[in-house]
Amino acid sequence: MKTIIVYSTMTGTTEFMAEQIAAALTEAGYAVDIAESTNTSAHELTGYDLILIGANTWDEGDLWDEMIDFYEELPEVDLTGKKGAVFGAGDSFYEHFATAVDTMEEALKKQGCELLLDGLKVDVVPDEEIETACKDFARKLDLRCRELGLVQQ
Ligand SMILES: Cc1cc2nc3c(=O)[nH]c(=O)nc-3n(C[C@H](O)[C@H](O)[C@H](O)COP(=O)(O)O)c2cc1C
Repeated sequence: MKTIIVYSTMTGTTEFMAEQIAAALTEAGYAVDIAESTNTSAHELTGYDLILIGANTWDEGDLWDEMIDFYEELPEVDLTGKKGAVFGAGDSFYEHFATAVDTMEEALKKQGCELLLDGLKVDVVPDEEIETACKDFARKLDLRCRELGLVQQ
C-alpha cells in the first residue's frame, strides 16, 4: 500500500515515532514516504492509500506551530476512500495529554478518511518503550489492512 507519514516535532520524539513506524511498515512490504509537516502539503495526501499523521502536542493541548499550515490546508482535500491513523508524543504532566492526536483524528475523519486504529499517544517514557509501542501500532495497522483485503494475505 502506498503510505505517507507526515509528522511535526519540536524535541524529536514524534519524529522518532514516525521513523519506527516507517521502518516496521517498510519491513512488512509497504511503500512508505515520510515527510515533516513543513516540507509537504495536505494536497500530497491524495496520492496515497494509507495516511499516517504524527502530531506532537504543545501549549494548552494545541498542535505544534509547524503543523498548523498543514492542518489548515486539510479542509481543501477530499480524503474519501483513504485509510489512516494518527500518533504523537505528549506528556501526562499537562492537563490536555497528547490532544493533538485527537485534533488530527477529527480533521482526517472530517475529510472522509477512515481511521483504522485508535490514535497512539506516548508519554515521557524510555525510547525502548516508544519503539515497542510503535512496532505494535504498525503491526496492528498491517493486520487491519489485511483484514480489510487492502494488502495481499
Ligand atoms: C511549553 C510546553 C507545552 C507543552 N504542552 C503540552 C500539552 O499541553 N499536552 C501534552 O500532552 N504535552 C505537552 N508538552 C509536552 C510535549 O508534547 C512532549 O515533550 C513531547 O514529547 C514533544 O514531542 P516532540 O518531541 O515530538 O516535539 C508540552 C511541552 C512544552 C515544553
